[in-house]
Amino acid sequence: MRYADITGWGKCAPPAILTNDDLSTILDTDDEWIVSRTGMKERRIAHVPVSDLAHVACARALAAAGKSAADVDLIIFGSCTFDQLVPNSASRVQQLLGADNAACMDLNTACTSGMYALSVATAMIKSGSMENALVIGAEVTSVLMDWSDRDVAILFGDGAAAFFLEASDEKSGVVAESLGCFGKNRDILDVTGWGLKYANQGLMLGDTKWNFNGQEIFKRAVVGMSRACDTVLEKAGIAKEEIDLVVPHQANLRIIDALAKRMGASEEKVYINIQRYGNMSAATAPLALVEALEEGRVAPGDKLLLPAFGGGLTWSAHLLNWGARIKPLGTTDVDLPPCDKTGLQLVRDIIAAKKTVKG
Ligand code: UT7
Repeated sequence: MRYADITGWGKCAPPAILTNDDLSTILDTDDEWIVSRTGMKERRIAHVPVSDLAHVACARALAAAGKSAADVDLIIFGSCTFDQLVPNSASRVQQLLGADNAACMDLNTACTSGMYALSVATAMIKSGSMENALVIGAEVTSVLMDWSDRDVAILFGDGAAAFFLEASDEKSGVVAESLGCFGKNRDILDVTGWGLKYANQGLMLGDTKWNFNGQEIFKRAVVGMSRACDTVLEKAGIAKEEIDLVVPHQANLRIIDALAKRMGASEEKVYINIQRYGNMSAATAPLALVEALEEGRVAPGDKLLLPAFGGGLTWSAHLLNWGARIKPLGTTDVDLPPCDKTGLQLVRDIIAAKKTVKG
């Protein structure tokens, strides 16, 4: 049987940091509230568009896999903050990489986009239609954030991660998954001004208001992810105790704790980096997996469980059999241009730019 092994991985965390104390200079909030309610201490703010973050993550994933851009068959870009819709943003990554032989598609399921992209790429490789793929989870929500709304502005950050997948005869990569959506509840995470329908209502694209029912989203996140995990384990015929590491979507530390409790997973079996990045939407679980690898938390043959949740309300869980490679084969000089601003300066620039356009 054919599988899709993950042989390369890379992340791109933009350098500018926005701390909780920074947020308290523009919003009625404080470090104590944010840490106790979310577990977040700081997040990154991008000084470049999301495609540029994705490009760097992809270059690193290719170097880790020991491949060149010309080898790539397919690029799937998971995000909901594409800098362009036509042409799509995957084609921008192709252009920046010089991956001239790749098919290119964008995929949006909000925070789960990177994980859904992993499913699509795996299925296409398993079916034989592709030999390999670059899968991206990347997001720049800072530009579309309503920076006057403390309920949501504290929660999100920018980032990107990418994986290189190759056809393999070994039982590795995604071995079971469960995907779904609570569409009936889609309005509890709804961003007004983020889509073409708002152009007819005289709203400037990007002038957003977030209809965000945090407590209801919280409940559905726990239910959606824990049910998806149960389904995946049942499909794979393995017990909870056999999971070596859970690498969850990081939207709130309390959501992760509730999920871990339901899974009976001890602290050391759950990977957490929410304190450094907040919720990077599509980049979150992919970047967490990259950091788990970098920190030596993944061994060859490990069983990894990746639950995720996002707007839609989409949910997912993936069971991965990690393959043989846990160290990158190579590195690359490809990097972001330098950033001479702090996270807070970048946020103030976004707020000022929106005011200028609105007049
Ligand atoms: O990726 C998926 C998308 N998002 C999520 O999964 C998020 C899910 N939800 C959550 O993480 C949590 O519901 C939040 C972190 C958003 C909110 O936490 P909470 O414990 O549910 O707080 P709350 O909304 O019940 O608010 C409690 C209080 C309120 O004040 P009152 O009414 O009790 O006086 C809020 O106005 O905290 C207030 N509050 C804040 N205070 C300081 C809300 N946001 C803030 C803030 N700083 N940033």
